[in-house]
Amino acid sequence: MQQRTIRLSGRQADQDFFRFEERGELDYGLVLDVLHGRRLGVIFRDVIPPAARKDLTERFWASPARQHREGEPSHYVGAYHWNKDTDTYLGEAAEVAEHVRKVIDAPDSPWHLFRQGVNEALREEGASLRMARMNGRSACAALIRAWDKEGDFSLDPHEDEAQCKDPRQAGFEIQRVLDHQICAVNMCTEHSDGGRLVIWNIRPDDETRRSLGIERTGLPYAAEALADLEELRLEIREGDIYAFNGAFVHAVDANTGNRTTVSFIMGFTDPRTVVSWT
Ligand SMILES: [Fe+2]
Repeated sequence: MQQRTIRLSGRQADQDFFRFEERGELDYGLVLDVLHGRRLGVIFRDVIPPAARKDLTERFWASPARQHREGEPSHYVGAYHWNKDTDTYLGEAAEVAEHVRKVIDAPDSPWHLFRQGVNEALREEGASLRMARMNGRSACAALIRAWDKEGDFSLDPHEDEAQCKDPRQAGFEIQRVLDHQICAVNMCTEHSDGGRLVIWNIRPDDETRRSLGIERTGLPYAAEALADLEELRLEIREGDIYAFNGAFVHAVDANTGNRTTVSFIMGFTDPRTVVSWT
């Protein structure tokens, strides 16, 4: 099949923004920088205690709610809002909520620790973090995933902004995050080799999405179209927690063995409120 390489248009960040801050301990001020659009991303190395990694990973693989569909690139526990209507997402989130809790409620869970830390940092500016909701129903707390797709990328290049423009999700408060920054959070509890985070210096605009037919999904962007752009490749290891601006095109490159992460997305809806979803 012949495919035309489309030149991507959008916004690019300057040099001092387009980098990851790296620390050996959690620093929630840096996460707030990502939420406020003051920096691209931050990675905290080896901050999940080994026992918590192991426990959480075991709970994930043992979960009766773990799903794997043939032809899809991952095993997962949780629900995702991508490419569906709000009602379906919130229904799926409710159905799986108890199972997600069983995984993330492991002792010394990074999910609890991290959210508590973000919440305390937010409190200093009069804001707080909670799960997104609609009509009394709550978004999913986390998506726990293990990638096993072969090829150049185990997760194809995409961005997390387009999926918040889906008209089937009109009125869902996560769409208000589009006026602020989208912050993707990942906690790696199991990892053997490869599976770097790749991030390209472009925030595609709607014109680009339209020409690719991915206005509502933000996936996939062809590797050839990204080839000329500045990129970062970040080694991810077991025990790391990282957060970054999900509006920039990003991917996970090839990995061997399991790469299991606990993830969610979060962003401000107004100066006092940060909501999270999956
Ligand atoms: Fe993403």
